[in-house]
Amino acid sequence: RMERTFAMIKPDGVRRGLTAEILARIQRKGYRVVGLKQMVIPRETAEAHYGEHKERPFFGELVDFITGGPVVAIALEGENAIAGWRAMMGATNPANAAPGSIRADYATTVGENVTHGSDSPESAERELGLFFKPEELL
Ligand code: CMP
Repeated sequence: RMERTFAMIKPDGVRRGLTAEILARIQRKGYRVVGLKQMVIPRETAEAHYGEHKERPFFGELVDFITGGPVVAIALEGENAIAGWRAMMGATNPANAAPGSIRADYATTVGENVTHGSDSPESAERELGLFFKPEELL
Protein backbone atom coordinates (compact mmCIF):
# COMPACT_ATOMS: atom_id res chain seq x y z
CA ARG A 1 0.00 0.00 0.00
CA MET A 2 1.31 3.44 -0.99
CA GLU A 3 1.39 5.58 2.15
CA ARG A 4 2.42 8.99 3.40
CA THR A 5 3.85 9.46 6.87
CA PHE A 6 5.16 12.26 9.03
CA ALA A 7 8.82 12.01 10.01
CA MET A 8 10.76 14.48 12.07
CA ILE A 9 14.37 15.06 13.03
CA LYS A 10 14.08 16.22 16.63
CA PRO A 11 16.11 19.14 18.09
CA ASP A 12 18.84 16.80 19.36
CA GLY A 13 19.34 15.38 15.88
CA VAL A 14 19.49 18.82 14.24
CA ARG A 15 21.81 20.19 16.94
CA ARG A 16 24.18 17.26 16.48
CA GLY A 17 24.38 17.72 12.71
CA LEU A 18 22.56 14.49 11.80
CA THR A 19 20.15 16.04 9.29
CA ALA A 20 22.04 15.07 6.14
CA GLU A 21 22.76 11.56 7.40
CA ILE A 22 19.10 10.89 8.22
CA LEU A 23 17.83 12.35 4.92
CA ALA A 24 20.41 10.20 3.11
CA ARG A 25 19.09 7.05 4.81
CA ILE A 26 15.51 7.98 3.85
CA GLN A 27 16.45 8.57 0.22
CA ARG A 28 18.65 5.46 -0.04
CA LYS A 29 15.72 3.43 1.21
CA GLY A 30 13.67 4.77 -1.69
CA TYR A 31 11.09 6.93 0.07
CA ARG A 32 10.13 10.15 -1.67
CA VAL A 33 10.49 13.35 0.33
CA VAL A 34 7.25 15.16 -0.57
CA GLY A 35 7.56 17.86 2.12
CA LEU A 36 10.58 19.27 3.96
CA LYS A 37 11.19 22.23 6.26
CA GLN A 38 13.36 23.29 9.16
CA MET A 39 11.32 25.11 11.80
CA VAL A 40 10.91 25.84 15.49
CA ILE A 41 7.64 24.21 16.53
CA PRO A 42 5.13 26.60 18.13
CA ARG A 43 4.18 25.45 21.64
CA GLU A 44 0.50 24.95 20.68
CA THR A 45 1.48 22.72 17.76
CA ALA A 46 3.74 20.65 20.02
CA GLU A 47 0.97 20.22 22.59
CA ALA A 48 -1.44 19.11 19.85
CA HIS A 49 1.13 16.80 18.28
CA TYR A 50 1.78 15.06 21.63
CA GLY A 51 -1.86 15.32 22.83
CA GLU A 52 -2.06 11.60 23.57
CA HIS A 53 0.74 12.02 26.17
CA LYS A 54 -0.87 14.97 27.99
CA GLU A 55 -1.39 13.06 31.25
CA ARG A 56 2.11 11.56 31.31
CA PRO A 57 4.57 12.87 33.91
CA PHE A 58 7.10 13.71 31.18
CA PHE A 59 4.66 15.78 29.04
CA GLY A 60 6.05 19.20 30.06
CA GLU A 61 9.61 18.06 29.56
CA LEU A 62 8.70 16.58 26.18
CA VAL A 63 7.10 19.82 24.95
CA ASP A 64 10.03 21.89 26.28
CA PHE A 65 12.47 19.63 24.47
CA ILE A 66 10.66 19.49 21.13
CA THR A 67 10.18 23.30 21.03
CA GLY A 68 13.69 24.00 22.36
CA GLY A 69 15.44 24.25 19.00
CA PRO A 70 14.84 23.78 15.28
CA VAL A 71 13.49 20.48 13.99
CA VAL A 72 13.29 19.18 10.44
CA ALA A 73 9.73 18.20 9.48
CA ILE A 74 9.52 15.66 6.68
CA ALA A 75 6.60 14.23 4.72
CA LEU A 76 7.54 10.84 3.28
CA GLU A 77 5.80 8.79 0.65
CA GLY A 78 6.39 5.19 -0.31
CA GLU A 79 5.22 1.62 -0.16
CA ASN A 80 4.41 0.76 3.48
CA ALA A 81 6.12 3.99 4.56
CA ILE A 82 4.46 4.24 8.01
CA ALA A 83 5.78 0.95 9.42
CA GLY A 84 8.89 1.11 7.23
CA TRP A 85 10.04 4.45 8.63
CA ARG A 86 9.36 3.24 12.19
CA ALA A 87 11.52 0.18 11.49
CA MET A 88 14.32 2.43 10.22
CA MET A 89 14.11 4.50 13.44
CA GLY A 90 14.11 1.51 15.80
CA ALA A 91 12.34 1.25 19.16
CA THR A 92 11.53 4.43 21.14
CA ASN A 93 14.01 3.41 23.82
CA PRO A 94 17.43 3.28 22.10
CA ALA A 95 18.43 0.46 24.47
CA ASN A 96 15.83 -1.73 22.71
CA ALA A 97 16.40 -0.43 19.18
CA ALA A 98 17.44 -2.95 16.51
CA PRO A 99 21.11 -2.87 15.47
CA GLY A 100 21.60 -0.56 12.49
CA SER A 101 18.47 1.48 13.23
CA ILE A 102 18.77 5.25 13.64
CA ARG A 103 18.14 5.16 17.38
CA ALA A 104 20.55 2.27 17.92
CA ASP A 105 23.21 4.10 15.94
CA TYR A 106 22.71 7.66 17.23
CA ALA A 107 20.70 7.82 20.50
CA THR A 108 21.23 6.84 24.12
CA THR A 109 18.11 8.12 25.94
CA VAL A 110 14.35 7.67 25.51
CA GLY A 111 13.70 11.43 25.80
CA GLU A 112 16.24 12.53 23.18
CA ASN A 113 15.86 9.87 20.53
CA VAL A 114 16.69 11.87 17.36
CA THR A 115 13.62 11.14 15.23
CA HIS A 116 9.84 10.78 15.23
CA GLY A 117 7.49 8.81 13.01
CA SER A 118 3.71 8.48 12.90
CA ASP A 119 2.45 5.19 14.35
CA SER A 120 -0.70 4.66 12.20
CA PRO A 121 -2.47 5.98 9.10
CA GLU A 122 -4.71 8.11 11.36
CA SER A 123 -1.71 9.64 13.17
CA ALA A 124 0.08 10.22 9.87
CA GLU A 125 -2.85 12.17 8.47
CA ARG A 126 -3.28 14.18 11.67
CA GLU A 127 0.42 14.97 12.06
CA LEU A 128 0.96 15.84 8.38
CA GLY A 129 -1.98 18.25 8.74
CA LEU A 130 -0.41 19.88 11.81
CA PHE A 131 2.93 20.49 10.12
CA PHE A 132 2.21 20.99 6.40
CA LYS A 133 -0.29 22.91 4.32
CA PRO A 134 -1.63 20.85 1.40
CA GLU A 135 0.25 23.05 -1.09
CA GLU A 136 3.56 22.33 0.68
CA LEU A 137 3.37 18.63 -0.25
CA LEU A 138 4.87 18.24 -3.70
P1 CMP B 1 7.92 9.63 20.26
O1 CMP B 1 7.51 8.20 20.14
O2 CMP B 1 8.37 10.37 19.09
O3 CMP B 1 6.71 10.42 20.95
C1 CMP B 1 6.51 10.35 22.35
C2 CMP B 1 7.79 10.66 22.99
O4 CMP B 1 7.78 10.70 24.38
C3 CMP B 1 8.78 9.58 22.66
O5 CMP B 1 9.12 9.70 21.31
C4 CMP B 1 9.89 9.86 23.63
O6 CMP B 1 10.85 10.74 23.10
C5 CMP B 1 9.13 10.55 24.76
N1 CMP B 1 9.19 9.76 25.94
C6 CMP B 1 8.71 8.52 26.11
N2 CMP B 1 8.97 8.10 27.36
C7 CMP B 1 9.65 9.10 27.97
C8 CMP B 1 10.18 9.27 29.27
N3 CMP B 1 10.09 8.32 30.18
N4 CMP B 1 10.81 10.43 29.52
C9 CMP B 1 10.89 11.41 28.59
N5 CMP B 1 10.40 11.30 27.37
C10 CMP B 1 9.79 10.16 27.06
